[in-house]
Amino acid sequence: MTTENRPSSAERAASGDLDAQGSLRRSHACGDVTSALVDQEVVVAGWVHRRRDHGGVVFADLRDRRGVVQVVFRPDVSTEAHARADHLRSEFVILVRGLVKPRSEDTVNPNMPTGEIEVHASELRILNTATPPPFAIEDETGVDEAVRLRHRIHDLRRPPLQRAMEVRHRLYQSVRKTLSDREFLEIETPMLGKSTPEGARDFLVPSRLQPGSFYALPQSPQILKQLLMVAGYEKYFQIARCFRDEDLRADRQLEFTQIDLEMSFVGVEEILDVLEDVTARGFADASGIELARPFPRMTYEEAMRRFGSDKPDTRVLLELVDLTETFRTTEFRAFRSNVDRGGVVKCLPIRDAEGLSRGEIDRLEKFAKKELGAKGLAWIRITADGAWQSPIAKFFSDEEKSQIAEKTGAQPGTVLFFQADGAAKANAVLSRMREDLGRKLGRVDGRAWDVLFVVDFPLFEAEEDGSLTYAHQPFVAPLDEDLALLGEAPERVRGTHYDLVINGVELGSGSLRNHRSDVQRQILEILGYSKADSESRFGFLLNALDAGAPPHGGFAFGYDRMVMLLAGVESLRDVIAFPKTQRGQDLLMDAPGPVDSSQLRELALRSVVREKSE
Ligand code: AMO
Ligand code: AMP
Repeated sequence: MTTENRPSSAERAASGDLDAQGSLRRSHACGDVTSALVDQEVVVAGWVHRRRDHGGVVFADLRDRRGVVQVVFRPDVSTEAHARADHLRSEFVILVRGLVKPRSEDTVNPNMPTGEIEVHASELRILNTATPPPFAIEDETGVDEAVRLRHRIHDLRRPPLQRAMEVRHRLYQSVRKTLSDREFLEIETPMLGKSTPEGARDFLVPSRLQPGSFYALPQSPQILKQLLMVAGYEKYFQIARCFRDEDLRADRQLEFTQIDLEMSFVGVEEILDVLEDVTARGFADASGIELARPFPRMTYEEAMRRFGSDKPDTRVLLELVDLTETFRTTEFRAFRSNVDRGGVVKCLPIRDAEGLSRGEIDRLEKFAKKELGAKGLAWIRITADGAWQSPIAKFFSDEEKSQIAEKTGAQPGTVLFFQADGAAKANAVLSRMREDLGRKLGRVDGRAWDVLFVVDFPLFEAEEDGSLTYAHQPFVAPLDEDLALLGEAPERVRGTHYDLVINGVELGSGSLRNHRSDVQRQILEILGYSKADSESRFGFLLNALDAGAPPHGGFAFGYDRMVMLLAGVESLRDVIAFPKTQRGQDLLMDAPGPVDSSQLRELALRSVVREKSE
């Protein structure tokens, strides 16, 4: 066939008959074609980002992973390429051969690495057509997130997601290097296993071979990594997938990734040293961020007292004050009855708050009650002339007032907010207000990164009914000096549990573990497990502890959260290639979905929902 008889590639494209790549291979990535290559021939490939027709000359921005380069189709360079270029549309996949030329001065774009040059196409191959994209492949799309998730392929072509995936990749490499350098072994643990208690619901997988029995997907490799310590591996790590059937939020996914690690013959110090190294090197390698070392530490008690949160952002300069003692005998009923019941009264003082209008305070009160479940939001404003403006100050004695002023440092211009409630609720409400108002009023220091180890968490937490549950997970070892309290006052026992908190985000958790089975059994008993229960659920762990378990401990980083911070985004969905929606759906694959009844039968299962609709 002669050239003249061949249909144009555009016609072929239109009829589904596209150009082949043939032996033509790209010589450079689009983003790498710079003025250093002027007058050289290059072959570039990618997606048509944009196409413009300027009176006989066709311009196409060609995009690949490394960037965008401008290609020009001029009839005087190649009639055929120019004719074909007429048929290009957004997201067509093409291969272009051409000469690199400087752009005319008025078209130079100093904001792009390729902005000084363009490629004058001598050959165009259309490798594939494309349906019109559902939104622009740009930093900002302006479309609803559901649309982005349904069209995740196009979404993943956008620069912010590509950057996030690159950060993710660099962090994996950094973590592996740091831990491998420190003689950690990377070991995989099974996905199909037995339920481990991390406080969420399990995802269950029915067994075909054992009808009526189920595997649980791991909420974390917690028990298995402890078994590896008993087995003598001493330093383990894994970039582990974890599955938790819980209510989703911006920082929670059903399946997520941990950097999971465990070490033997160490104390808290040695573990924190490793964590600091992994974090600091990870931040530097993934995003060029230098974190100040050593990382500051704060006890759980101090964090709750000053900030009302176990993951405070200490860049917010406002702090809480405990006024429980001040109100022990107060005439104000709401406070008094709460203190009598064992609750607390905490206060958030804000100085120089003249700008907080009465309307604003009323809105805050509504918000606290409606959104945060507060019983109320009492407040006092000290006016410029020193008067106490407040719906409740009339109930306070002079002594109470002078204590309030002294403990909170209140002065003219100060507004005080109060919460009288159980400690957990009062702290939760005020810590949220502290962060919201602190940011809104600009009461923040200028540090970009706020890194904190929070240490010595309590071992147990009281449930509403007064029973004790674990604060983190049931395998945390008590602090040595609190071991004796286990028998008499377990609620006062502090655990070896520590968290890493960055910018107010809980980035990870860990602890030393109970390596003695007698202590572990005692803790399970306090948690309300009967002997039989303990044996059936954790027998394999308890037996392992009796098989020569070394002292051990470890940690798990929330990998996705770490990437979220590094990529500077607000949602885990922007750092996971194929995330789930708030309702646990994958909109791209349309999962979860129904399955064939034959599949269910094979698994000895019947769906009640299905039967109802039949
Ligand atoms: P923990 O349950 O605290 O500890 O989990 C460790 C870290 O994992 C992250 N994380 C999540 N990230 C995204 N989506 C979720 N649903 C989610 N849940 C947790 C958090 C958290 O700090 N086995 C213990 C660790 C140990 O003691 O060694 C554990 O899993 O950043
Ligand atoms: P009341 O006596 O219920 O009218 O409340 C007087 C003020 O105290 C209102 O501003 C309430 O929002 C506030 N208030 C009531 N109960 C509490 C509480 N438990 N903690 C904080 N403020 C409260």
